Amino acid sequence: MSLSLPLIAAGSGAGYAVAASQAATDPLIARGRYMVVTGQCNNCHTERYQQTAGRVPQSEWLTGRGVGHRGVWGTTYPSNLRQNVNRMSEGEWVRYAATLKPRPGMPVWSVRDTSPADLAAMYRFIKSLGPSDTPSRLALPPEAAPTTPFVRTILETQSLSRPAPLDSAVVERSVAAENPTLARGRYGLVTGQCNNCHTANYALQKGRLPEAEWLKGGRIGNVGSWGTTYATNLRIKVAALSEEQWVAYIQKLKAKPPMPWWGLRETDVQDLRAMYQFIKALGAPGEPAPGALPPGTKPAPPYTEWPALFSE
Ligand code: HEC
Ligand code: HEC
Repeated sequence: MSLSLPLIAAGSGAGYAVAASQAATDPLIARGRYMVVTGQCNNCHTERYQQTAGRVPQSEWLTGRGVGHRGVWGTTYPSNLRQNVNRMSEGEWVRYAATLKPRPGMPVWSVRDTSPADLAAMYRFIKSLGPSDTPSRLALPPEAAPTTPFVRTILETQSLSRPAPLDSAVVERSVAAENPTLARGRYGLVTGQCNNCHTANYALQKGRLPEAEWLKGGRIGNVGSWGTTYATNLRIKVAALSEEQWVAYIQKLKAKPPMPWWGLRETDVQDLRAMYQFIKALGAPGEPAPGALPPGTKPAPPYTEWPALFSE
């Protein structure tokens, strides 16, 4: 993995300067920052990060957010990760993160699939942000109505029952086997949470779906003030572009919510190239995702209702 990473976040303010200079002198902290930014942790664990497309000073990162994730499990709130990190040694955090069992709302599989070295780097970075005494919000039971804004997915049936578990040999078979570039691209996509939205059923299957189904576009509508968007079929996108075009396109991408385009802009060029190669290697693109709907039109389930979390 490359350590030559963009160190300065978009925006300005003392928070950026302090933490960015610390990251600049310590490659492990820089790597941890990169994994946090490209891993989309701030989108849920930092107040106002989605609203401002990532322009929140680092001094405020990862202190938790008062936006609930509501479903049959009740309502969960992204925790203050700086407290977790400050309660643990690096070794404890790596073990904890690799075996984490949070309730839904947290895309736990992306942390599970992060390498121990990167988990350790994340620990260093989060620790470098300093302690924070902002309490994590307690989860609410299913019968309690949240007083905060919340995100909620309406499925065809309101149960989280998943299809029968897949044969793990099929799930684990990879086009990236023994190809370091493809493996790097795969890792960037997995830790970057891309499948969560761009692959149908990935989140419901907790990240255990065969690559044959990856990145063919989401089937869950995203409903908000912008109308309804569906995460694009990235295989079709990649098939239409050369590697150079893909890099240039991603570096100035701005898409509708809830696409976290700001995290992609900070993605290292070699990682972007590897992602391109991997998506291309996945094979036949399949069908496009459903088309976007204008504001005021409600799609048929499944869809996710988003509160006002994005600057459009
Ligand atoms: C889509 C939103 C979302 C994203 C993205 C996200 N989280 Fe979370 N996370 C949550 C929610 C919600 C919870 C609380 C779950 C619960 O209450 O059990 C949580 C809980 C956690 C916990 C457990 C905290 C505890 O106190 O037990 C850890 C650790 C964690 N997240 C780390 C991360 C890291 C690292 C990233 C980035 C790679 C990340 N999260 C990205 C929503 C998110
Ligand atoms: C929270 C859900 C979510 C996540 C996570 C996510 N995307 Fe998206 N993405 C979307 C949605 C929804 C759209 C469609 C937006 C629109 O219609 O403008 C989109 C659009 C895109 C586009 C533009 C496609 C086009 O046709 O112009 C690209 C490229 C893209 N995503 C790549 C990625 C990559 C790479 C990742 C992982 C690093 C990622 N996305 C993570 C939801 C997501």
